[in-house]
Amino acid sequence: MTFLSDRVNRIPPSGIRVFFDLVLSSKGIISLGVGEPDFLTPWNIRDEAIYRVEKGFTTYTSNKGLEELRGAISHYLKQQFSIAYDKHEILITSGVSEAVDLVFRSFINPNDEIILPEPSYVCYRPLIDLCDGKAVPLDTSLTDFIPRASDIEALVTKNTKAILLSYPNNPTGQSIPPSEVSKIADIAVKHNLLIITDEIYADLSFDSFQSIASIPNMKNHIIYLNGFSKAHSMTGWRIGYVCANEEYIEAMNKIHQYSALCAPTLSQYAAVEACQNSSDEVQKMRQSYLERARYFTKMMNDVGLTTIMPSGGLYCFTSIQSLSMSSLSFAEKLLKEYQVAVVPGNVFGESGEGYFRACIATDFNELKIAAKKIQEFVTEHD
Ligand SMILES: Cc1ncc(COP(=O)(O)O)c(C=O)c1O
Repeated sequence: MTFLSDRVNRIPPSGIRVFFDLVLSSKGIISLGVGEPDFLTPWNIRDEAIYRVEKGFTTYTSNKGLEELRGAISHYLKQQFSIAYDKHEILITSGVSEAVDLVFRSFINPNDEIILPEPSYVCYRPLIDLCDGKAVPLDTSLTDFIPRASDIEALVTKNTKAILLSYPNNPTGQSIPPSEVSKIADIAVKHNLLIITDEIYADLSFDSFQSIASIPNMKNHIIYLNGFSKAHSMTGWRIGYVCANEEYIEAMNKIHQYSALCAPTLSQYAAVEACQNSSDEVQKMRQSYLERARYFTKMMNDVGLTTIMPSGGLYCFTSIQSLSMSSLSFAEKLLKEYQVAVVPGNVFGESGEGYFRACIATDFNELKIAAKKIQEFVTEHD
């Protein structure tokens, strides 16, 4: 007999973590695995946190987060992405991860359907499941990993509650072109659906980028998520935010105040600095990821492993369909024979089968060695 709930028993452990427990137990591995920037948090941001510790800023903040930070984010979103949310429409969370959980818990009723373009980030499905919602996958592998508005519309039923977007995407690196973004917005209005948009990689876009939240008169349909983990190299600070109209924010804040109280205070002060004074650093990091993504994409295509150049973010998503092996056996063999760790594509949904994800935010010399080893692997197994 177990005391565990049916809900928790039903969700699988993260496929990425399961695979990387294997990596941790091996030596001399080059890991292109976990999606983490290889830059330290810019110094001015760390320095701000040190100053706040010295001055004793160690208490709770208001549940919604520091007013100063919500104001800074409001300004930042306007400048960067032409997105208009005022500080009452922003809730500071412990990373985008908490924000995703809050959104699902606040909006999903049992049996509500959420259209989920896949391959997609691993947390969405299990968290939808925990709310007794139903993720309805849209296979984007046939459309160069770009979710098409017409394909989304074809999945709408009377139970559809929301469309979940995330672009530039983890794991595919692909964005949604502005023309398609507008069509998706039209569908949300036409069928009265919510759009949940996780734009955590937006600041790391290599190409033109349009947030769906910048389209006028959409506020009642949009829940916008972003954070500091990726573009500002702040993964361990656990700081993110959700923007929406005030009614929605107050609803999410009801859960947040009971389950989290507030996001980490020092991280909130550091994030103010990140919003106000880090554009040069972010630009340098973006440029460096772009160079590495170009290199890796070319190396893979050179040996017949089709890889679409990412539009932004930290990942390349490479096809191994020419090798006639599954994603998992490719990743296991590559690890065992060449000591290179990548993530098998199937952990991001069924449509990721036949691919692997490589995080290119890895030291460039190591990335070069890893890419050459993958080339050797292909020559040997062709
Ligand atoms: C698309 C996406 N959303 C959210 C997250 C979680 O970010 P955070 O560190 O802000 O919780 C990640 C992390 O990999 C991600 O790729």
